[in-house]
Amino acid sequence: MRMIGKAGKAAAIAAIAALALTACGRAEPGTTSTTGAGGFEKNSSIGVALPQKTSENWVLAEKLFNDGLSSAGFKPDVQFANGGVSEQQNQISAMITKGAKVIIVGAIDGAQLGTQLKQAKDSGATIIAYDRLLLNTENVDYYVAYDNFKVGVLQGQALLDGMKTKKPTGPYNIELFAGSPDDANAKVFFDGAMSILKPKIDDGTLKVLSGQASFEQAVTQGWKAENAQRRADTLLTGSYGTASLDGVLSPNDTLARAVLTSVKAAGKPLPIITGQDSEVESVKSILAGEQYSTINKDTRKLVEHAIVMVKDLQAGKTPEINDDKSYNNTVKTVPAFLLPPVIVTAANVKTAYADDPVLGPLTK
Ligand code: BGC
Repeated sequence: MRMIGKAGKAAAIAAIAALALTACGRAEPGTTSTTGAGGFEKNSSIGVALPQKTSENWVLAEKLFNDGLSSAGFKPDVQFANGGVSEQQNQISAMITKGAKVIIVGAIDGAQLGTQLKQAKDSGATIIAYDRLLLNTENVDYYVAYDNFKVGVLQGQALLDGMKTKKPTGPYNIELFAGSPDDANAKVFFDGAMSILKPKIDDGTLKVLSGQASFEQAVTQGWKAENAQRRADTLLTGSYGTASLDGVLSPNDTLARAVLTSVKAAGKPLPIITGQDSEVESVKSILAGEQYSTINKDTRKLVEHAIVMVKDLQAGKTPEINDDKSYNNTVKTVPAFLLPPVIVTAANVKTAYADDPVLGPLTK
């Protein structure tokens, strides 16, 4: 799905840096209620379809979208689909009925919304994929996300660095966990991490004692902590009788804490373990020397950027993108605005959240 080479990555990162500067100085679009060419009325309904509350970032997004869209003069219609895919399909249909001009979608399953997205497009709405790509459809206009492949690369590199610091020479025993296979991000995170880890597995530096090194073997259905914990229990019992578990690739914080719970219950020393999302409990765990790393993907910035796109569309402007080649959804390459994720370990945890109102005070 993701097609990007090393040179492409470097160029994309440079472009992001350049555009980040531009974005800081951009003019506020659409400050009046007049409609630009191809734009729409300022007080229009904007739909935001969020998935299940599988991590804190989604919960934060709800309030940020409600507050940010309201203060920009729009009517936010923000919905969670805790009941699953069919609930999300119904919510998108209801947004169309209410006349949403833009529908922002954080999909539970990016491949299951084709019918609703077509209806949305036919109604004249613009579709923005938020955080997770929408798959197998031409009816997605933009993608706004942290660079998911880069998230995986940072996780893979942190895992190697952490293990090396603890034990300078290998081989190292590791296990691999991935996210939910219905979430388009899960494979991209895993592929990013494996771009770093696979060569080390191939040369014998890393040993996956369970033998479960493929994405399909590593997945965690529904991003559920209990599923990761159960799999960790099984791996520890089956493959780590007397062997040490040196490292674990975990795709996010919720699953990292679940794996740590399992390792503690097995009475084993804690492995170097990665995460993502900067969840409160994981930042505390890093400060306590348990979880090794997380990723800072500030939800405030991501929501803010999605709202910048809505403002541009309202004013009849084409939203700014900084990547037009990385995220192919099997039907089209979706024009994207990618933000850069930041790795956080004990080494930078005190500075990483300096401007975060919740995490900042935790690290003081
Ligand atoms: C998000 C992650 C999150 C995961 C589970 C992914 O799509 O990008 O930040 O940890 O979903 O909610």
